[in-house]
Amino acid sequence: MKKEGYNVAVVGATGAVGREFISILQERNFPVKNIKFLASSRSAGTYLEWKGKDVMVEELKKDSFKDMEIALFSAGGGTSKKFAPYAAEAGAVVIDNSSAWRMEPDIPLVVPEVNPEDVALYKNRNIIANPNCSTIQMVVPLKPIHDKAKIKRIVVATYQATSGAGKKAMDELFEQTVSILNGKGPTEAKVFAHQIAFNALPHIDVFFDDGYTKEEWKMVNETKKIMHDDSIQVTATCVRVPVFYGHSEAVNIETEEKLTPDEVRKLLSNFPGVVVEDDPKNNVYPLAINAAGKDEVFVGRIREDFSTPNGINMWVVADNIRKGAALNAIQIAEILIEKYL
Ligand code: A2P
Repeated sequence: MKKEGYNVAVVGATGAVGREFISILQERNFPVKNIKFLASSRSAGTYLEWKGKDVMVEELKKDSFKDMEIALFSAGGGTSKKFAPYAAEAGAVVIDNSSAWRMEPDIPLVVPEVNPEDVALYKNRNIIANPNCSTIQMVVPLKPIHDKAKIKRIVVATYQATSGAGKKAMDELFEQTVSILNGKGPTEAKVFAHQIAFNALPHIDVFFDDGYTKEEWKMVNETKKIMHDDSIQVTATCVRVPVFYGHSEAVNIETEEKLTPDEVRKLLSNFPGVVVEDDPKNNVYPLAINAAGKDEVFVGRIREDFSTPNGINMWVVADNIRKGAALNAIQIAEILIEKYL
């Protein structure tokens, strides 16, 4: 039987995703008995609101997880690598938003609309990984297409919001934009390698020797793991754009069996978590500013790729902090308490 409430720790509570964890837990009425907010020593002693009351932020320590049952982590890969095992050891199930654990073979990587059954594998190490934001919003609409027509290849270009790089990254975009518009020239680029205001940077996360970025490899490897299909070929170009919330993606797919754009629209309209917005004659297509604050993945510009026999192009947009991060993690937590805890 489901318990009345669970003890939940939020690690990285003061960050962009951490704050969204806190608001989505309340919005969705997640059954919380006790809440604990954890962050670095920098913000220990400050307060965050929980159900109308102020709760003090505590410094994350090895022994922070006593009596905790669920720990939602979004405090960077290094912090997850170090502290998730302490939480798991203390008996909490960790749902981790960083890339630290995603590709460990015995740790499940879950998007609830795609592979909810993998939540059961939390038992291996008491850790569940939340995928990369760009990957999550791409695999949701691709799942029903793959089930129907088998996707052979994906070519994706992303247009990613600054919130994906955290609060300081959004501040950098804001301050640079204001400074330029006030005629003072750009402020120094600290979070990003170059000026982000009025620019597009083909550089997200670090570069590897093969010329790809880590973000691009995340999209390749995580897609295969979530879809349980190593045969899907994926290639990505990830670009940071001066948007605060909402990642957009131009997705090109080739399928084994032919699907018409109408068939794709129908498949997507019937799939949970997807909204089709596709009426280009009336200028209707998904937009980052409309997706911000919403739960669904929005898909439009669905059209045939005439350069190949079985190709489809589409434009996929979602709130990267919600479906791309905090919401997906809390949906995983909902499956966990519904079925397993
Ligand atoms: P703090 O606010 O104390 O720095 P964002 O992704 O928006 O930059 O947020 C990162 C989150 O991770 C913040 O809550 C930040 O806390 C937290 N964090 C960063 N480094 C650590 C650390 N070493 N230990 C605990 N929390 C950390």
